[in-house]
Amino acid sequence: MLERISKLKEVIENATADSLEAVEQLRIKYLSKKGEISALMADFRNVPAEQKKVVGQKVNELKTLATEKIAALKESFSTNSDRELEELDLTRTATPVELGTRHPLTIVKNEILRIFEGMGFTIAEGPEIEDDWHVFESLNFAPDHPARDMQDTFFISRNPADILLRTHTSSVQTRVMEKTQPPIRIVCPGRVYRNEAISARAHCFFHQVEGLYIDKNVSFADLKQVLLGFAKQMFGPDTKIRLRPSYFPFTEPSAEMDISCFICGGKGCGFCKNTGWVEILGCGMVDPNVLKACGIDPEVYTGYAFGMGIERITNLKYKVKDLRMFSENDVRFLREFEAAK
Ligand code: DAH
Repeated sequence: MLERISKLKEVIENATADSLEAVEQLRIKYLSKKGEISALMADFRNVPAEQKKVVGQKVNELKTLATEKIAALKESFSTNSDRELEELDLTRTATPVELGTRHPLTIVKNEILRIFEGMGFTIAEGPEIEDDWHVFESLNFAPDHPARDMQDTFFISRNPADILLRTHTSSVQTRVMEKTQPPIRIVCPGRVYRNEAISARAHCFFHQVEGLYIDKNVSFADLKQVLLGFAKQMFGPDTKIRLRPSYFPFTEPSAEMDISCFICGGKGCGFCKNTGWVEILGCGMVDPNVLKACGIDPEVYTGYAFGMGIERITNLKYKVKDLRMFSENDVRFLREFEAAK
């Protein structure tokens, strides 16, 4: 038995093969169930008990030798491309993915929201397709208010209810107040639509952020302070604000807010038309009629609201001169805001 083993060992050690098929033949010859090593193992029963230990060890060694030898022969035939295939990472992306950049309006919107979130406001959103109640009626627009004219508003249906594209995000105020009792402190970003001829200074859709704060004892001074905080964070710590009396159906009193021109610092330049100020938003104390329409008791609660155009703020911050650029998707324009991310 020991002799058979050592002979086989020599044969296996010297085995050669000239092809992968020949290696497979060797494997069958020595290592398969019907191969020579299996035959040796079958005969192991007949080995006298005292030799079993030594013989068993030798057979095992032989099996290991044969396995390694065949693996080595096989390896010698595997081609480079086989090896490359093994090393290939099939989970890698085929071509590098080019990342886009955030749209300038998104960058500025996020910046506005972040500032108000820092002052305790939460974000609320509403639908772009609205009805007359949420956009006009609940907000104290008189039935014959010009904003309700076809020339300003895109109507979708007049019958049975007036369905239209919202002309401002103030409609979200109503949506939230109808469902929630004060305290309410929200900012509402979104797209709005107006029936305007498209030019460098006007577009048929644009974006706004609406703000609303309703609670007990909210005053005009609170409004002023929050807007001053916003202006300083958005346009720099030296920014001043100025409120001019104005009119909106949903606020009383109403105001428009200017910031000191950040180009000339208020001295007067071409940008601010030599006034030292640029207008950025509308605001006011929520009209008691609006609170009533939304189920909030105006004897108990007061509040302020404000609304600003995101395009307007972006134009000021980045000096974009033509509104149409925001919706043309020219990557050369969009890439300019990469650093501002
Ligand atoms: N909704 C107004 C607009 O679209 C903007 C606005 C002005 C909103 C005053 C307000 C506000 O909440 O108090 O022009």
